[in-house]
Amino acid sequence: MVRATGWVFNNETGSDLTLEQFVATGDEEVPAYLTEFGLRGPENEHQTLVEIGCGIGRMTCAFTREFGSVIGCDLDAGFLERTFETVGRFGKVERLRTSHVADGQTLDLPDDSTDVAFSYITLQHCDSDDALDLTSEAVRITKPGGKIALNYRGRTGSDVVLLPVGSLTRTAFRIPGFGNWLAQRRFAARLGWQANRLNPDQVIGPLERHLTDIQLWRHPKSKMTGYGAEIKTFDGINPSHYWVVATVR
Ligand SMILES: C[S@@+](CC[C@H](N)C(=O)[O-])C[C@H]1O[C@@H](n2cnc3c(N)ncnc32)[C@H](O)[C@@H]1O
Repeated sequence: MVRATGWVFNNETGSDLTLEQFVATGDEEVPAYLTEFGLRGPENEHQTLVEIGCGIGRMTCAFTREFGSVIGCDLDAGFLERTFETVGRFGKVERLRTSHVADGQTLDLPDDSTDVAFSYITLQHCDSDDALDLTSEAVRITKPGGKIALNYRGRTGSDVVLLPVGSLTRTAFRIPGFGNWLAQRRFAARLGWQANRLNPDQVIGPLERHLTDIQLWRHPKSKMTGYGAEIKTFDGINPSHYWVVATVR
């Protein structure tokens, strides 16, 4: 499935960072986002957070210090093993479970089973249909009154080039021999990640009846709006990203 979606990741942390430094970036971001989104509090100790697209556990470590139970989900089963190793070193591994997203679109978790469903820099890397399916899965697994906090990338000028080149690169990853070589080049891997741009109406529209208190978080300079969502800004958000934060009915 990883090859079918064209998703590749050629190394652990990039060439510049040690794993410890990589995790430190998550340690900064997790409290910042949870605080801004109103998701930080003592009750978290008794709550569950599901992280969709946990990668190798960069943010998962910090989540295990905030939430009593954390379920890391990823398309790449190898990353789930790495997440255990990373959280074992830098987080509270006794609070961690993992769940393989074997088909790239379905979470193998029960309805109404988590308090928070969170996803960062993942839903832009899937096919649009998978990203929309995972969005509706996030709502399905969240308890009534629980929260979703999901990150997407909106369209910008450079996408005229980036999206077609990303699509070509993912196709090239499947060429026997050459694809394997190409997938190990970090530059190509990063291009291959450019998979979709969904606008907030596409994301919120199909799920609106299941949600309340819908907020669209963006960088202060971004012009993104959508589906009557309340606009909120935070300068820690990448200008081409946005977040949908909402309560599940
Ligand atoms: C850029 S990494 C981000 C990891 C983590 N959220 C972080 O901030 O460090 C994107 C992750 O999404 C995962 N991914 C890509 N497509 C996916 C899909 N369809 N379902 C689940 N995970 C997916 C990749 O395997 C990868 O671990």
